[in-house]
Amino acid sequence: MSWSTDPTQLFQTWFAEGVATEPRVPEAMQLATVSTDGRPGLRTVLLKELDAQGLVFYTNYGSRKARELDGSGYATALFHFKGLERQIIAEGRVERVPEAMSDAYHASRPRGSQIGAWASSQSAPTAGRDALLAEVERQTERFEGRDVPRPPHWGGYRLVPDRWEFWQGHPDRLHERWELTPDGEGGWTGRWLQP
Ligand SMILES: Cc1cc2nc3c(=O)[nH]c(=O)nc-3n(C[C@H](O)[C@H](O)[C@H](O)COP(=O)(O)O)c2cc1C
Repeated sequence: MSWSTDPTQLFQTWFAEGVATEPRVPEAMQLATVSTDGRPGLRTVLLKELDAQGLVFYTNYGSRKARELDGSGYATALFHFKGLERQIIAEGRVERVPEAMSDAYHASRPRGSQIGAWASSQSAPTAGRDALLAEVERQTERFEGRDVPRPPHWGGYRLVPDRWEFWQGHPDRLHERWELTPDGEGGWTGRWLQP
């Protein structure tokens, strides 16, 4: 095992190995947010992009998570690759991605997902699935015969980590925890934490 001090590189290695052992949505991550009164929120979202800047995911800008992301400016993401006994945690500031980037990703999605983004006021109450399906039908008719534009209430966020933790399980609870934080000179510094 090589413990890089480049979190993007280490993530990409572990993620590729995770994909091989996790047949269903290995890109699913748990995203923790916090409300203004300190109440934690948690849900699963899909990682859509990882680059040197951070982790990108897409959601509804009117949702509970969006309110908490915009309000606190922080989030934590967690991946658990059970087959490898590995956990990755990334925490840091969040920002909305540029509109052009959300437009491009929206344009790449299947039409059904594009319509769904218009039909759902994520996190708001609904009368139920029938009401949602009726709204999908309404939106389908609305965009009949033309491209579905990106809804203004839907787009991406980027989590820009300032702390990573790579956890490798071992017998007898003698796990390895490798923490990476910025070194102040544009790079990263690593240290081991007790398990
Ligand atoms: C495997 C999986 C993947 C999901 N991916 C996303 C996603 O990429 N974006 C999203 O907004 N919701 C996604 N969801 C739904 C969220 O978990 C959540 O129900 C929704 O975003 C509303 O969360 P909120 O009310 O805390 O804002 C996913 C759920 C599961 C189980």
